[in-house]
Amino acid sequence: MRGRFAPKGMTGVEAQLGPGEAAGAAAMRREREERVIDLRSDTVTRPSEEMRRAMANAEVGDDVYGEDPTVNRLEQRAAELFARPAALFVPTGTMGNQIAIHLHTRPGQEILCESRAHIYNYEMAMPGAFSGCLIRPVLTADGVLTWPALAPALSLEAPYHRARTGLIVVENTLNMAGGIVTPPPVAAEICRRARDLGIPVHLDGARIFNAATTLRRPVEELARGFDSVMFCLSKGLGAPVGSMLIGDEEFIHRARIARKMLGGGMRQAGILAAAGLVALEKGPARLAEDHANAAFLAAGLANLPRAELDPGRVQSNIVIFGVAKTGEPAAKFVEKLAARNVLAGAAGPDSVRLVTHLDVSRQQCQAALEALQALLARD
Ligand SMILES: Cc1ncc(COP(=O)(O)O)c(C=O)c1O
Repeated sequence: MRGRFAPKGMTGVEAQLGPGEAAGAAAMRREREERVIDLRSDTVTRPSEEMRRAMANAEVGDDVYGEDPTVNRLEQRAAELFARPAALFVPTGTMGNQIAIHLHTRPGQEILCESRAHIYNYEMAMPGAFSGCLIRPVLTADGVLTWPALAPALSLEAPYHRARTGLIVVENTLNMAGGIVTPPPVAAEICRRARDLGIPVHLDGARIFNAATTLRRPVEELARGFDSVMFCLSKGLGAPVGSMLIGDEEFIHRARIARKMLGGGMRQAGILAAAGLVALEKGPARLAEDHANAAFLAAGLANLPRAELDPGRVQSNIVIFGVAKTGEPAAKFVEKLAARNVLAGAAGPDSVRLVTHLDVSRQQCQAALEALQALLARD
């Protein structure tokens, strides 16, 4: 861990050593870091050399004045890819989602989403705190939110008892269901029925490029019909920072104001947008490799008696499996795995999540599987 006041690239201890000793300690630490296989998330990727060069050479201006040419190019390119009029660069996916929620709803309304959705579980209660809305989670068995599942949860009349439904949010892929992909006809039906009722629909497409890879369809097609779309540059696409919010001109104009309210008006943000542009051009083509690695891990885990998962349900770059048969909580399992240099995350009290990404190779997945085998082989 880097110390708070240590020079960049050194730990606190390294900073107190002489130059030769510090170099040796730093080399050992790098070697240790390289041995660690980090499957906690696809957010852990580090920028490529190409990204770093693009960042160093980025043409910049003050983006709050709309004068950063690299940010403008990124926004234009994202809008183009989704065949929409406009896009906005935001620091995080959470900010993109929360701006969309804020603009689509009014205080005192309900938002419907799948029970495992990021906006419900991992965005710090912001729909309540920032937009005055309540989330009504919809349970599904497999993580695919359908119109028949949503319909009974809608609130359209009864103005004196239950708040009206103000927004539907679809997360594709659905992260905590194991990267489950929404079939295009299912999403199309939600958008069509919601439009008939005057309810906007937002797409949390943090990993929409993964869904596009699985379905072999362009993102533009998967996002069609949604009133707004958020996707992340900083996950499987490999950028260090940043997400995009997409919609029509009026929506993005209002989103720009909301971004400023949240303190997300970044100045010479072209430094970050330059990496985002590389991610957008180079990232999507290699996601199939991550999916193949996830399928490889899932197939290996399925052979282990103390792991519980259906490898047929692994559709993208996320593998969630049960560890109840080990008799220990997931947190303990994750700890033991870390001791074997494989980092994973607890996805629930007895389930564990592995996420493949550009910084883990097939060889490392093979090594991770060997560590998993050691913990899950015995019955
Ligand atoms: C589905 C989904 N939506 C939104 C986000 C939020 O992205 P960020 O971490 O950039 O705020 C995440 C992050 O993991 C996510 O998985």
